Amino acid sequence: MTQRKRLLTGITATGQIHLGNYLAVIRPALEFQSDAECLYFIADLHALTKNKNAEQVRSNTLDVLATWIAAGFDYERHTLWIQSHVPQVTELSWYLSCCIGVGHLEKGHAYKDAIATGKEVNHGLLAYPVLMAADILLYDVDVVPVGKDQKQHIEFCRDMAGSLNSLYGEVLKLPEIHLEEEVMVIPGLDGRKMSKSYDNTIPLFCKREELRKKVMSLKTDSLPLEAPKELRGTLLGILFGCFSTKEEFEDLERRLAQGGMGWGHAKDELFQAIEREVAPLRERYEELRRDEEKLMQIAREGAERARSIALPVLSRVRRAVGLVEAV
Ligand code: TRP
Repeated sequence: MTQRKRLLTGITATGQIHLGNYLAVIRPALEFQSDAECLYFIADLHALTKNKNAEQVRSNTLDVLATWIAAGFDYERHTLWIQSHVPQVTELSWYLSCCIGVGHLEKGHAYKDAIATGKEVNHGLLAYPVLMAADILLYDVDVVPVGKDQKQHIEFCRDMAGSLNSLYGEVLKLPEIHLEEEVMVIPGLDGRKMSKSYDNTIPLFCKREELRKKVMSLKTDSLPLEAPKELRGTLLGILFGCFSTKEEFEDLERRLAQGGMGWGHAKDELFQAIEREVAPLRERYEELRRDEEKLMQIAREGAERARSIALPVLSRVRRAVGLVEAV
């Protein structure tokens, strides 16, 4: 039998999670659980490069952690933790820092964009790829699944590992990139990509009534009730397709095409379909968010497991670079 591949990804903790995040990121990432060993963590240290609101950093971290568990992360078979709970990652990032040129890091997209737009750039932003490389290399990872926007970061990671290995021998395991070519683009209420910055999102865990209201405010054309309507390719159709079975989709498509059915009714069916999937998740989420002790218990166990992989790797690196062991 072949061993399960070890797969790792970091989850950034931004504010309120919406249906776009759920459909494009969370649901696909949870599917890896069936045939890989998943190591997922909430990247709270990375959040500090941008977010200086301590209370927000804290609550975002807990919200996102609870969201992933509620959505179906199996924390008994896989490992989920908060990045800063394995602080050894910052130690490894130091060793990697010493193996990459500043000029190389200055080619980073995020860094270059920040410079180009005249933003003040902190050292954490320049070093972001180094910490991210440490995230990966600390756990002897086989594969990192990422979207196109993260491809350069993984290449940097491989560069740093290669450079350290060429100096000290085969110490670090080079990860493969699993590039997600087409990350689904989920449209928001106005038809543009669902995004907080367009203020067109449907929150994943709002109250049932708010969810209904949001769905009812979805943009449609203004055809009269009697007119035959096309579902496929419309904003409503795309969202309905994400939550319905193929049969349900074809059924609604046929009824709309016959005429005599208004968009309002179709939206109600979309609401029902979303609610069917989201309601049990929402309940679990609210329970976890109410019981911080339980949430932290899960996080602690995750960090413990992560640490048990990380410590031997870190010892390997310490020895290789010539640090005197403190016994
Ligand atoms: N930079 C990633 C993002 O913005 C998050 C991340 C941090 C990550 N560390 C990682 C992803 C390690 C993969 C592997 O989405």
